Amino acid sequence: PEALKIALLGAGTVGSQVARILTEDAGMLAARVGTRLELAGVFVRNPDGDRDYRLPRELYTTDAEALVDSADIVVELMGGIEPAKTLIERAIAHGSAVVTGNKALLAQSGSELFRAAADAGTQLSFEASVAGAIPILRPLRDSLAGDTVTRVMGIANGTTNYILDQMDSTGATFDDALADAQALGYAEADPTADVEGHDAAAKAAILANLAFHAPFRIDEVHCEGITRITAADNEAASEAGYVIKLLAIAERITARDGTAGAVLRVHPTLLPREHPLAAVRGAFNAVFVEAENAGELMFYGPGAGGAPTASAVMGDVVSIARRLVRGGAGRTHTPKSVVPALPVGEAHTSY
Ligand code: NDP
Ligand code: HSE
Repeated sequence: PEALKIALLGAGTVGSQVARILTEDAGMLAARVGTRLELAGVFVRNPDGDRDYRLPRELYTTDAEALVDSADIVVELMGGIEPAKTLIERAIAHGSAVVTGNKALLAQSGSELFRAAADAGTQLSFEASVAGAIPILRPLRDSLAGDTVTRVMGIANGTTNYILDQMDSTGATFDDALADAQALGYAEADPTADVEGHDAAAKAAILANLAFHAPFRIDEVHCEGITRITAADNEAASEAGYVIKLLAIAERITARDGTAGAVLRVHPTLLPREHPLAAVRGAFNAVFVEAENAGELMFYGPGAGGAPTASAVMGDVVSIARRLVRGGAGRTHTPKSVVPALPVGEAHTSY
């Protein structure tokens, strides 16, 4: 195809950076994909609102349905359950590929969305939904597909790590540190999801799904946030040589009869200062993976923020676009029946 059309749903912290990369790196992307990635339009609430990266006014629209219907690849970066879910379902029903960073939606309705995508012969990609820029989902799904993962554990929420780090290292108050995290683009639109642990719980469910090849939902994760942590707690921890971190943990367990299961939990944890996770500062994330044959792996990097998250989104977009080009497809150029079925793994389809 001459070009693949990209519909961007949302132009906030992450969407604006995706728009910037699609615009400023268009030549590089075209060379890597083998065709142009054309931004067909951007769905927002307020087309005249201030943006971190401003596109020509005519690209912004409030007509999501028409935009979705015109695209080969739909990139959902609005957040929340609705209208994101209905628009993703619409895109899938049209045979378009979808890229999303919406962990809240995936941890609630992932199973049905992945099944719909598999049935439609298209792909729903979501690397940006866990740990920002860190490539963690593809390694779990693909690189470790022949191993048995026993534990996934780490810092999976940048906002709470930033808050705890600021409280610990500068004596900042919880409220001031949260306000900074919001200004820096780390927090969810409603930061309750961050500070109450729900965002980390959604990520724990997504990680467990890929690690343990079974469907998990957010409501299966025991969840405690950081709202009850005080300056006095930090001081006491510090005096004793510890640091407080919000951890997301998914552990494989085996019952006496040999049945495998998993325990998923998110809660503040006291870590010795010399523990590798204690050194994770600001909005960085780190995830440990333990597997029977691979042993211990650690993934580390920026866990939140516009440009780092946009990097993960663009990785998915380029990967899908390359497949569409290789298959001679592009929904608007070739009947969708010839779009190649993507090699989705067990976990991908059963999620
Ligand atoms: P923002 O709140 O900054 O941006 C949301 C965008 O979506 C805005 O452009 C907004 O339009 C648009 N939007 C939201 N609801 C609607 C609606 N009902 N109708 C039309 N437009 C709507 O969110 P982020 O960019 O921070 O996050 C986007 C997604 O990425 C979320 O799912 C989030 O969980 C995920 N994510 C975010 C990360 C981060 O570090 N921020 C990291 C990883 C994932 P308008 O601008 O007009 O209000
Ligand atoms: N609000 C999330 C965080 C964004 O702070 O980690 C990245 O998923």
